[in-house]
Amino acid sequence: MKYMEGMLREDALKDKVAIVTGGGSGLGKAMTQYFLELGAKVVITSRNLEKLQHTAKELEEKTGGKVFCVACDIRKWEEVEAMKDAALQEFGQIDILVNNAAGNFISPTERLTHSAFDSILDIVLKGTKNCTLSIGKYWIDQKVPGTVLNIVTTYAWTGSSFVVPSACAKAGVLAMTRSLAVEWAKYNIRFNAIAPGPFPTKGAWERLLPGDLAEKFDMRKKVPLRRVGEHQELANLAAYLVSDYSAYMNGEVVTLDGGEWLQGAGEFNMLGELPSEMWDGLEAMIKAKKGS
Ligand code: HXC
Ligand code: NAP
Repeated sequence: MKYMEGMLREDALKDKVAIVTGGGSGLGKAMTQYFLELGAKVVITSRNLEKLQHTAKELEEKTGGKVFCVACDIRKWEEVEAMKDAALQEFGQIDILVNNAAGNFISPTERLTHSAFDSILDIVLKGTKNCTLSIGKYWIDQKVPGTVLNIVTTYAWTGSSFVVPSACAKAGVLAMTRSLAVEWAKYNIRFNAIAPGPFPTKGAWERLLPGDLAEKFDMRKKVPLRRVGEHQELANLAAYLVSDYSAYMNGEVVTLDGGEWLQGAGEFNMLGELPSEMWDGLEAMIKAKKGS
């Protein structure tokens, strides 16, 4: 299938340096691999250096590209500043920031302690703010252009039960995307976001659908296209959004979910479950009401 293949031309990210937070696993790793294939050098960062180094080795062998690993808890401003300095020392420039790192847990909100709630807000909203402000100030001071891609979720605008800290934080990240897209355009800094639907990853799946929940709630059934996402199709979109090919796109959030959130939203979408033979009878009943 075409969507399992890389989409952009080979040198689409040549001479670019990208920072991918949470780049050691899941969707961050998939984006990192494709950015390397397209010629970028990539800094991957998260709390677990060993995991990052393992990923870097694997991806360098696969792609022949260059990965630099920096351990950094994005909740901590000093660590983010040190990560930026280390990236600049290694590669001499930063062109792209992908705010991908996140934390989440499924829980009735009343069961959460105040610090559990904070923990998610701090990773997702404060962490994204820390990275954006640190690298944004560098771009502005140096008078160089930059591109930010924020990974959000579709419940950033619908909200969702049982993931309330994440929903609040992602809504904040979406507001930041749209606000800074306008405010920092004068510095030649672009902001866009992707709202992925279900893309199986160890990090998300084991935390959000533990035990037999994954079988009980088959995510494919929530998606009109009846499948989950492939990592390459998200990497394709991400690479386009951070590349110069999307130079006129700014402040956009692109949903990549097979129609999932709209299926939950449309008033009469549940009628899709009716067998088609029922429609003859229903039509006859509706016509019989005419003039009555
Ligand atoms: C309730 C929990 C909990 C849980 C931890 N806590 N797990 N409360 N339910 N499942 C509480 C702890 O008791 C503690 O409370 C507080 O939260 C902080 O816990 P720590 O373990 O110290 O937190 P920390 O080390 O910061 O870990 C953060 C984490 C962890 C979010 C809890 O899961 C993590 O690191 N996750 C990163 C990866 C991840 O979540 N990926 C999924 C992203 S998917 P007290 O009161 O004792 O302090 C996504 C969208 C998916 O974002 C959409 C799918 C369609
Ligand atoms: P994942 O593999 O768990 O990725 C989360 C990453 O964030 C991990 O690499 C983790 O690394 C890092 N991280 C967590 N806390 C951190 C901190 N304090 N500082 C630095 N890094 C931290 O999950 P994923 O599914 O690939 O998710 C990637 C992104 O896609 C997230 O923004 C998520 O909200 C979004 N998303 C995913 C889905 C999906 O279906 N998978 C759907 C919608 C949105 P360490 O633990 O090593 O720190």
